[in-house]
Amino acid sequence: MKPVALITGAGGLIGSYLVRAAATAATVASEWQVYGLSRRDLDLTDTQAVRRTFIALHPSLIIHCAAMSKTTQCRQDPALARRVNVEATARLAELARDIPFIFFSSDLVFDGKQGRYVETDPVSPINIYGETKVAVEQVVLANPRHTVIRTSLTAGRSPTGDRSFVEEMRRALEAGQPLTLFTDEYRCPIPASTTARALWELAPLNCPGLYHLAGAERLSRWEIGRLLAARWPELEAELRPGSVKDFQGGPRAADASLDCAKIQALLSFPLPRFSEWAVWFFRVFRGCIEQPSSLAPVSGERVGVRGPR
Ligand SMILES: NC(=O)c1ccc[n+]([C@@H]2O[C@H](COP(=O)([O-])OP(=O)(O)OC[C@H]3O[C@@H](n4cnc5c(N)ncnc54)[C@H](OP(=O)(O)O)[C@@H]3O)[C@@H](O)[C@H]2O)c1
Repeated sequence: MKPVALITGAGGLIGSYLVRAAATAATVASEWQVYGLSRRDLDLTDTQAVRRTFIALHPSLIIHCAAMSKTTQCRQDPALARRVNVEATARLAELARDIPFIFFSSDLVFDGKQGRYVETDPVSPINIYGETKVAVEQVVLANPRHTVIRTSLTAGRSPTGDRSFVEEMRRALEAGQPLTLFTDEYRCPIPASTTARALWELAPLNCPGLYHLAGAERLSRWEIGRLLAARWPELEAELRPGSVKDFQGGPRAADASLDCAKIQALLSFPLPRFSEWAVWFFRVFRGCIEQPSSLAPVSGERVGVRGPR
């Protein structure tokens, strides 16, 4: 019998790619019996239900993608952000104390004043979201079997159609909104398919610890937006260059780019440059190779998680 891997956040962007990658016979992931859990299957703030599910499924690996993942939502409801991002994660890590546990953190543990951050750079979050990630990273890393993956802007198609920055930008442009994009805010965008491939390669290696996982190219929001808009000529995008210094909302990390040399040394493939990946992605996207129905994650409901609740 295959060992069981639990994926939380399976209804979200990264979790859904991890679950679908497991269904591809050629991947390392196919060596696992994968259970994808969406919020509908299991609310991670429900302590008893989480415990029952853990006991019933007896996982050998947990990849924890569920989170309050938007900085604005975290700012609007910091108490809920802490319950979901810190407390629920800490409880899950405690249940998983004797097995590998992989937790997704973020480039926003940094204030963005330096850029090209390595794993040993001191953290300096400037928003609630980043603070929750920093708080729980320490809890997770206290267990030498556990892993923290700090990732960055993730591209792809989410089951709900509204989670990735590519989807957000397309929606805004479809609505005819002009977009102001910062020429001085930098990220290293990564496709969710790459994230999933990297995670499934990392999982069996037994190399716990802290890793940065992002695309190989540092791009400004303006450059990212121009790349995407060029592939959507029919939308006649109105893009305006702006500066993060003029932003009137909450604080923003200007350069949260990540150095990923540590994880790259473990992977069998090079982390992609976003500009090159985008050419390939849009061939697939526009050719509708992936129909929305095939994007639905394999939910816990379908694989019998309801039983132990
Ligand atoms: N995507 C990025 O650009 C990015 C960048 C840096 C770091 N990360 C981190 O990577 C991880 C995965 O991100 P993602 O982009 O896949 O996020 P996502 O698309 O927002 O998915 C997160 C999932 O968690 C679920 N969730 C929230 N609260 C829950 C709860 N109480 N119980 C069970 N499930 C709950 C959400 O359910 P609902 O849909 O019902 O809300 C959602 O499906 C997160 O930790 C995120 O912070 C992502």
